[in-house]
Amino acid sequence: MNPTHLELTGVGISFPTDKGLYCALQNVNLRIAKGEFVSLIGHSGCGKSTVLNIVAGLYQATTGGVILDGREVNEPGPERAVVFQNHSLLPWLSCYENVELAVRQVFKGQKNRREMRDWIEHNLELVHMTHARDKRPSEISGGMKQRIGIARALAMQPKVLLMDEPFGALDALTRAHLQDSLMEIHSDLGNTVIMITHDVDEA
Ligand SMILES: Nc1ncnc2c1ncn2[C@@H]1O[C@H](COP(=O)(O)OP(=O)(O)OP(=O)(O)O)[C@@H](O)[C@H]1O
Ligand SMILES: [Mg+2]
Repeated sequence: MNPTHLELTGVGISFPTDKGLYCALQNVNLRIAKGEFVSLIGHSGCGKSTVLNIVAGLYQATTGGVILDGREVNEPGPERAVVFQNHSLLPWLSCYENVELAVRQVFKGQKNRREMRDWIEHNLELVHMTHARDKRPSEISGGMKQRIGIARALAMQPKVLLMDEPFGALDALTRAHLQDSLMEIHSDLGNTVIMITHDVDEA
């Protein structure tokens, strides 16, 4: 059996700018086994988010490509959930509804109403956000928004969880707590995780 689950081969990308093409990535190669937890670390602007966005299918590599379980990645999909560097919740939906939107998309036809509700509540509980379930993103702090983003991604039960500095905006206590929860969740679910961080200890 081939243990490679996710493979980046010769990935490069150039962005068009006013001064011509800007080469942000060149020849990035990564082989990740199923269930592996990989941290990407590097200085600001080196291309970490760009790598993640290519794996997410949000950017198209200019050269090379990404293979997940034998299939080429060229668009976003629910099996690759992203926790973005800047929280990206829908401002007109409550915390609960933000998670619900993702859950409905992924589990339509698989879970009934009640199972969906329980599952959303379970994921809000994982990140300790049950108390704010009915608040809108504008009514909660940055760290809380980030926790909802994590709950939303986890609730999709993705094969690959892509996290772009997920704990960067959190205070040390919440951060340590969420790091522990993430390790627990990872050992329970065994999903493959790529996490970007600036913090060597966290990596
Ligand atoms: N859409 C784009 N158009 C043009 N240049 C871009 C675009 N996206 C990223 N870049 C450039 O590519 C390089 C890598 O950016 P990226 O966001 O991947 O860095 P990063 O490693 O995630 O940095 P940080 O740690 O600050 O988040 C930067 O020089 C950035 O300016
Ligand atoms: Mg970044």
